[in-house]
Amino acid sequence: MPSARFPSLRNRVTFITGGGSGIGAGMVEAFVDQGAKVAFVDILEDESRNLAERLAVKGEKPLFISCDLLDVHALDAAILEVRNRLGPIQVLVNNAANDMRQPVDEVTEADWERTMGLNVKHQFFAAQAAGRQMRELGAGSIINFSSVAWMDGSGPMTTYTTAKAAVIGLTNSLARELGPSNIRVNAIAPGAVITERQRRLWVSEEDMKNFIDRQCMKRSLLPEDIARAVLFLAADDSFMITKQCLTVDGGLR
Ligand SMILES: NC(=O)c1ccc[n+]([C@@H]2O[C@H](COP(=O)([O-])OP(=O)(O)OC[C@H]3O[C@@H](n4cnc5c(N)ncnc54)[C@H](O)[C@@H]3O)[C@@H](O)[C@H]2O)c1
Repeated sequence: MPSARFPSLRNRVTFITGGGSGIGAGMVEAFVDQGAKVAFVDILEDESRNLAERLAVKGEKPLFISCDLLDVHALDAAILEVRNRLGPIQVLVNNAANDMRQPVDEVTEADWERTMGLNVKHQFFAAQAAGRQMRELGAGSIINFSSVAWMDGSGPMTTYTTAKAAVIGLTNSLARELGPSNIRVNAIAPGAVITERQRRLWVSEEDMKNFIDRQCMKRSLLPEDIARAVLFLAADDSFMITKQCLTVDGGLR
C-alpha cells in the first residue's frame, strides 16, 4: 500500500533506536522513503549493516551506529555522533525493547533492573540527550514505544508490562516539560505485530489466528502499519498533537 508523503520529513534528522530488525527496521525504511536523514542504533550488527546497504539504493543511506542501549554513555555518544555527522536530531523514535517472558516467581532483582534498562531507561536518556539538540533547533518530536500488553495485563511478562506502562508516565511528563520548547512527545501502543522474531520466539500459527479473531480488522498487523502512524506523529501535520498514546492494534482491545 503506498504511504502518504510528508514534506516536512524531507531532510529531517531522525534517530531510531532498535532500528536493525522488526518494527524498527520498518520505520528506518519508511523514514528513508520520506527523504529523511536517518540514523539508527542496534546491537544486531549484521542485520543493521545489511539494512543500511539495502536502503542505500532507495534513498540516502541511513547511518548505523552499533550501540548497546543498556550503556547510557554509549547512547549519549551515539546521539552526539549523529549530531556531528547529520546535524541536530529533530525526530527521536524510542523503539528498542525486549519483551522477555518470565513468571513472577523467577524474576530476580538483576532481571528487574535489566528489563527496566531495556524497555524504559534508555527512552528517558535518549529523550534527554536528543531533547537538548531539539531545543537548539527550536522544534522536535519524540515518539516512545509502549504496548497494549500492559493495558491487557498480558503475561507472564510483568517486568516488561510494568516498563511499558511507565513509558506513558514518561511521555506525559516529558510532553509537559518540553512543550514550551516546541517539542512534542507522544507514545505508540502497538498490538500484536507479527515480526520474524515474534514468530521465532513466541507466536505460533494458532496464536496468530487467535489475535486476528480478537481484532476488529481481520488481518495481521505489520511493521509498516506502525511505521505509518509514527511518520504522522513525526511530521508537522500532527503539530498540535502531544501527550497522547496512539494505539495501533487493529481493534484488538
Ligand atoms: N511486535 C509486537 O507485537 C509488539 C507489540 C507491542 C509493542 N511492541 C513494541 O514495539 C517496539 C518494536 O517491537 P519489535 O517487535 O520490533 O521488537 P524487537 O524486540 O523485535 O526489536 C527491537 C529492536 O531493539 C533491538 N535491541 C534490543 N535490545 C537492545 C539493546 N540493548 N541495545 C540496542 N538495541 C537493542 C533489537 O536488536 C531489535 O532490533 C518495541 O518497543 C516493542 O516493545 C511490539
